[in-house]
Amino acid sequence: MRGAAIRVPERLMQIETLILGAGAAGMMCAAHAGPGTLVIDHARAPGEKIRISGGGRCNFTNLEVEPARFLSGNPHFCKSALARYTQWDFIELVSRHGIAWHEKTLGQLFCDDKATQIVAMLRAEMETAGAELWLSTELAELSHDGSCFIARLTREGRSETVKAHNLVLATGGKSIPKMGATGLAYDIAAQFGLPLVPTRAGLVPFTFPDGRFSTLSGLSLPVRARAGQAAFDEAMLFTHRGLSGPAMLQVSSYWHEGEDIAVDLLPGQDLAAALKTARSENGRRAVTTALGHLLPPKLVAHLSESLPLAGNLADLSDRRIAELAEALQGWHLRPQGTEGWRTAEVTLGGISTAALSSKTMEAKSVPGLFAIGEAVDVTGWLGGYNFQWAWSSGTACGREI
Ligand code: FDA
Repeated sequence: MRGAAIRVPERLMQIETLILGAGAAGMMCAAHAGPGTLVIDHARAPGEKIRISGGGRCNFTNLEVEPARFLSGNPHFCKSALARYTQWDFIELVSRHGIAWHEKTLGQLFCDDKATQIVAMLRAEMETAGAELWLSTELAELSHDGSCFIARLTREGRSETVKAHNLVLATGGKSIPKMGATGLAYDIAAQFGLPLVPTRAGLVPFTFPDGRFSTLSGLSLPVRARAGQAAFDEAMLFTHRGLSGPAMLQVSSYWHEGEDIAVDLLPGQDLAAALKTARSENGRRAVTTALGHLLPPKLVAHLSESLPLAGNLADLSDRRIAELAEALQGWHLRPQGTEGWRTAEVTLGGISTAALSSKTMEAKSVPGLFAIGEAVDVTGWLGGYNFQWAWSSGTACGREI
């Protein structure tokens, strides 16, 4: 028929499970879910955050995983999944795939070679399980017909409709939008009436308003950092914009706007006693010189701009020494904010655990709807904990569906 448009009938595909997001949790889930599973991702490659993680070596788990190292509205929620798929299970998987690994520090396990080995391992596991992966695919529309989820997908310009008994939300959190992070999981959760816990950036550097640390940029030292009840003994790094390094990233997850953080610049040491000893040994030594033996001299020079460090040790009374020790071992700082989603490693908050079964990750009010990984209000410490949550929650869900 000349002039009449030919309408190509849209393909309808009936499957068992549609997983949104081919990241750590989605791929792990698919590896357990098996045939009849389709994983879609809008990115051109799966597991992009795995690829760049751990400086390209992926800190894939931690030997010391325990529920207390996760933040959540319900601190008990993560226990079941973490106990049923542990760090040892993942280590066994990694080793079975011949991936060499090592412990770096504080129980953190990294690949000896490349993080892409973990991505390749997960792809291989998915293939063995018979799961399909569609990349460069967007979700255009989603509904539920009473028994199945109906998803209209656009894939390389073509439209495809998929009908699935189960839908798994595995699109992660909001951190690093440049890498394709979106709030899709939250939007769908809201569409189906699941409650959300407000999100904020976690494991993120602090910013300070006046570039006050810019002259110290690049300097790193071991500290004990505190925010609220949490304390971490790790390195702190001065940056042009503020404070970073593992100690700061860790406390950032416990920090709320308007609060102070406290930094002990000499963790495990008794500065007052050290200064008294130094005073009795050589009272004519300048205070800054004495401190320069304990702390980086550049930092001492910076501190002397706000603390009275002029004079000799002999000039210091015991009270002044106690005040000085208090100032340096309980250094209170009020960050202006954080670098936010642009550099945050994780998202705190998300789909409320109150809406989900901790055994299966299924929504209590919507049978067949599951949420896993970072999209859920469970956030781990720095050090491999977040990937372990992705592996554990992904497995809990994949075994169920
Ligand atoms: P993840 O983000 O891995 O996957 C989500 C997937 O969904 C992505 O592939 C994305 O493209 C896709 N997606 C998003 N929106 C979509 C949409 N609208 N449509 C279709 N697809 C969509 N953790 C750790 O334990 N050890 C480490 O070494 C590191 N290092 C690290 C470095 C950096 C720079 C960052 C940003 C993060 C880390 N992390 C980490 C955290 C870790 O990467 C993170 O917790 C997990 O990747 C979360 O796994 P998920 O599968 O939940 O989300």
